[in-house]
Amino acid sequence: MIFRQLFEPESGTYTYLIGCRDSGLAVLIDPVCEMVDRDLSVLQQLGLTLTYTLETHIHADHVTSACRLRSLTGCKIAYPEMDGLACADIAVNEMNPLSVGSLILRPLFTPGHTDAHHSYLIDRPDASRVFTGDALLIDGCGRTDFQNGDAGTLYRSIHEKLFTLPDDTLVYPAHDYKHRHVTTVAQERERNPRVGGGKTLEQFIEIMANLDLPYPKQIDVAVPANRLCGDCRDEDTAARDPSCRALQG
Ligand SMILES: [Fe+2]
Repeated sequence: MIFRQLFEPESGTYTYLIGCRDSGLAVLIDPVCEMVDRDLSVLQQLGLTLTYTLETHIHADHVTSACRLRSLTGCKIAYPEMDGLACADIAVNEMNPLSVGSLILRPLFTPGHTDAHHSYLIDRPDASRVFTGDALLIDGCGRTDFQNGDAGTLYRSIHEKLFTLPDDTLVYPAHDYKHRHVTTVAQERERNPRVGGGKTLEQFIEIMANLDLPYPKQIDVAVPANRLCGDCRDEDTAARDPSCRALQG
């Protein structure tokens, strides 16, 4: 397995490249529009062919590069089926494991941050990895006050789908704002200040209700653009990222 953790500093987003050594095929989880050139050059350096992009959810803080990558490479676009996006080629659900060459990614339905959010598990004897999107972050979790989010639902997703994984499963989140890269299931179960350490459902709901977070500055642009798989035809999005203009028309 070939693995890269890639970072976009403006939104603090991690994109994950997972490649199969045998087949030379790769997937990008949660790619960011502004980082297309970087991602294509990493693929080229590693000698990998992008077979599809894969989203954990419809993001509110950045625009996906899925549509641009499909235009440039001919890859497919995978999104949670429940999001119902006409632009997606692959409808993701828990019933259908995804493959990248000989690698298997198991979708885990983890709603609460958004109502269709999925995490992805690569189960391997040496090191299992779970890509948790915004469901579970390092010492945190995604907010639950937009996009049909719900704190109780997120608590159950984390406890039933993520905290039940083996202790040493590596947890790779979609964001970190403090230069941390990875954590483990056991560490978050024991120490996550919002949802770990034996926090009850009621305590978690109380914590989430009192976060007092600002309105996400990109949400009004990013969500509509991402519902088009990041197709940057609307003027606001194109203005943010000149490279997206190539797609217009
Ligand atoms: Fe998010």
